[in-house]
Formats: sequence, C-alpha cells, structure tokens
Amino acid sequence: MTHSPYAKRRQQLLSRLGDGVAIVPTAPERVRNRDSHHPYRFDSYFWYLTGFPEPEAVAVLVGGSTPRSILFCREKNEEREIWDGFRHGPAAAREAFGFDEAWPIGELVQRLPELIANRQTLWHSLGHDADWDARIAAALNAVRAQSRAGKRAPGELRDLRGLLDAMRLVKDAHELDTMRRAADIASAGHARAMRACRPGMAEYELEAELSHEFRRRGADGHAYTPIVAGGANACILHYVENRRLLAEHSLVLIDAGCELDGYAADITRTFPVGGRFSGAQREVYEIVLAAQAAAIAAIRPGVSFMAYHDAALRVLTQGLIDLGLLTGSLDDALAQEAYKPWYMHRTGHWLGLDVHDAGDYKTGDEWTMLLPGMALTVEPGLYIRPAEGVPAHLHGIGVRIEDDVFVTPGGCEVYTTAPRTVAEIEETMRRD
Ligand code: GLY
Ligand code: MN
Ligand code: MN
Repeated sequence: MTHSPYAKRRQQLLSRLGDGVAIVPTAPERVRNRDSHHPYRFDSYFWYLTGFPEPEAVAVLVGGSTPRSILFCREKNEEREIWDGFRHGPAAAREAFGFDEAWPIGELVQRLPELIANRQTLWHSLGHDADWDARIAAALNAVRAQSRAGKRAPGELRDLRGLLDAMRLVKDAHELDTMRRAADIASAGHARAMRACRPGMAEYELEAELSHEFRRRGADGHAYTPIVAGGANACILHYVENRRLLAEHSLVLIDAGCELDGYAADITRTFPVGGRFSGAQREVYEIVLAAQAAAIAAIRPGVSFMAYHDAALRVLTQGLIDLGLLTGSLDDALAQEAYKPWYMHRTGHWLGLDVHDAGDYKTGDEWTMLLPGMALTVEPGLYIRPAEGVPAHLHGIGVRIEDDVFVTPGGCEVYTTAPRTVAEIEETMRRD
C-alpha cells in the first residue's frame, strides 16, 4: 500500500462515498489560437486526488465494501512521445501513482456503465463542464438500456465538490509544506522587484523581475495574472495592463504569486518607486499595515471567517477619519459602511490549489468557523481616487498589503516573508 498524500486523500474520499462511485476528470487542453495551446494546467480536484500531471485522464473511485481507485490515462505512443513528450501509459501510471487499476482512456466509455451500474450514488462535479455532463448522461443511459438484464442506474446524482471542498479547506502536511515553498519563492520575487525598481521603468519590467525569480527557483509560473500598478493605477483593483511607466514620486502596487506543484502563493506589496515613502504615502501605508496586524491578531481557531475582516475594517475606518476623509464617530461610520469608497473588497479568501480556493465561506446564515490547517490571505487596502473633497496630497494613493497565513492551534502563522514594514522596504530598496 502506498502512503503518498494523494493515495491517502483517495482513501479518505472513498470512505465518504458510501457505495457510490466518483468520477473525477482532469482539465482538457485548450487551444490558444490555431494549433497553439495554452500552457497545460490540470484540474485542481483531479490533482488533489492523483498528482498525475497528464491531460486526458480520469480518476474513478469506487466506494463500498471493496473500495478501488481506477485511473484512465493515455496509452504509450512512441510517435506522439517524440513530438509531445513522455506519457506514463496505464501500467506505469498505476504503479507510480498507487492506483488499484489503470486503463487506456479510450476504454472509459465502454467501462464506465459497468462501473456505475447497481450503485446508489454517482458523484461528479455537475455543471462544471458541459461535455462531461453529457458523458455522464450517456453512461447513465447506457446502464438504463440494460435494465432488462437487471442493471440499475444510480438513482442519486450528487455534487462531488461538497465532499472535496470540505477536505481541501483544511490542508494536510504535504500541502502546508508545498504552500510554504511557494510562499518563499513568491516572497523572493517581490523582494527582487523592490531591488530592481527604478523611476522611469515600465510596469512590465517589474513583472519580468517576478517572473524571472519564480521560474529560476522552479515554480511553474504565475498562479494568476499579476498586477503591477504604478501610481493611481493601484486604485483599479484588477489592473493587469502593466504597461505604464513608473513615476519617481509614486507608489507601485504589485499583486503577484507563483504556482508551485499546483499550489498558489498570493502576495501584494506596495512600495515607493524612488525607494523612500513620502509623508502622505507613509501615513496611508501605516494605516493599512495596522489594519493587517489587527486582522492577523483576530485569526484563530473557533472564530468566524468574518472576524478578521471586521478587525481590519475598524482600523481602516479609523484611519480614514484620521486622514480627514470621513467625519463623525467610528461606530457610525462602520454601521453606514462609509469606508466603501476607499475599501470595497473583503480582507481575504481561502488559498490553496486555486488562488481563490475551494471551500464554503458560509453555511446557512453562519460564517465558516476557522480551524487549524486552513490557509487564507490577509489583504486590507485603501484606494484613494482623486475626487471632490479628497485632499490633493492623497490623490491616487492606492495601498494593499497581502500576506498568506495558516490557522494554527494557537492562532495563526504568517508564512509569506517579503519585506513588509516601511523600514524593511526602504532598507531593501536602499542602493549605496
Ligand atoms: N490576487 C488575487 C487576490 O488577491 O485575491
Ligand atoms: Mn488575494
Ligand atoms: Mn492577491
């Protein structure tokens, strides 16, 4: 028996399937244009359960008294391997990835009806992929066509994501280790961008510094489209053009993280293009940093997912009052959500294989309770667009500070390490 983390997760899932069968396909290859493809990225659920990197693969997990894990994958093919690279083939894949059985992907259509016949439940990510929904319907119909032979199609179709999302929400030791390594690389990328930054550079030049560091340290690339936003571009939350020049006295906001072995890091740093914060920039930065510290202090097992957002909001809103952007009492401003023109997003999200990772935030009216092993981002910000009533010295200042944390038995651990305080950033950028 193999003890790989993937085999362990399959065993865990099998124990929750009842006598049902789960069908977990990986992602298809996608054409970019004509005969060029997007870089291949496996499906996160499939990867979580298999660690198998090839396209055209499906895991079928058969529950019940004799649970089995079956892999369908591409056959060996000398000609295709010369053009496109190595394929395990079913026999080697079964051995290397710890499956009970493996078959050529071409046999799936023929074998699937037999695998699901007379089972009570079929588990699948319904609605995720129309082609797969049609394949599942065809397999069910193929079983129904044999009803006179005593075959019965599963009467219950259930969404597998319910089970897998709950598992993915609490990371195992292998995931924590991989995410730590991803965070180290992403942190080094941000530090490199700080060191390389010079007034007059283009935003894409800083993006290139991050890409370089990610790849040279073995990450697969970016986990999401990076944001490199100079000056007021930082006030556009999803700014991804990254083609403007960086002005000497402005800030630059970089939201970028690498993907390593399928796992995302998600870091934002905001720093002065010229290496020294101005008074106003520093004032806004320190408010956001204090909000982040308050949020981090509010993360521990047993509290609701919303608690750290509320903690950040209090500090940010008090900061907006101190900056003269809001008047009146803190509690009134919070009750009226008066911060919204300058802080319009949540303070974080689950993190894992997907940058906005799987897992419920709410069940019924209750926010999810934090547990040890959960991973989340802490990313407060303030975005001060030029507007009437806003003092000119604050115009176009956009700051976000984003770090990644694990919930631990005693609280949480911030495991991203890029320079974060004003002193750390200015020291990193110092050139003499
Ligand atoms: N980089 C995406 C986010 O921060 O949520
Ligand atoms: Mn994030
Ligand atoms: Mn981010």
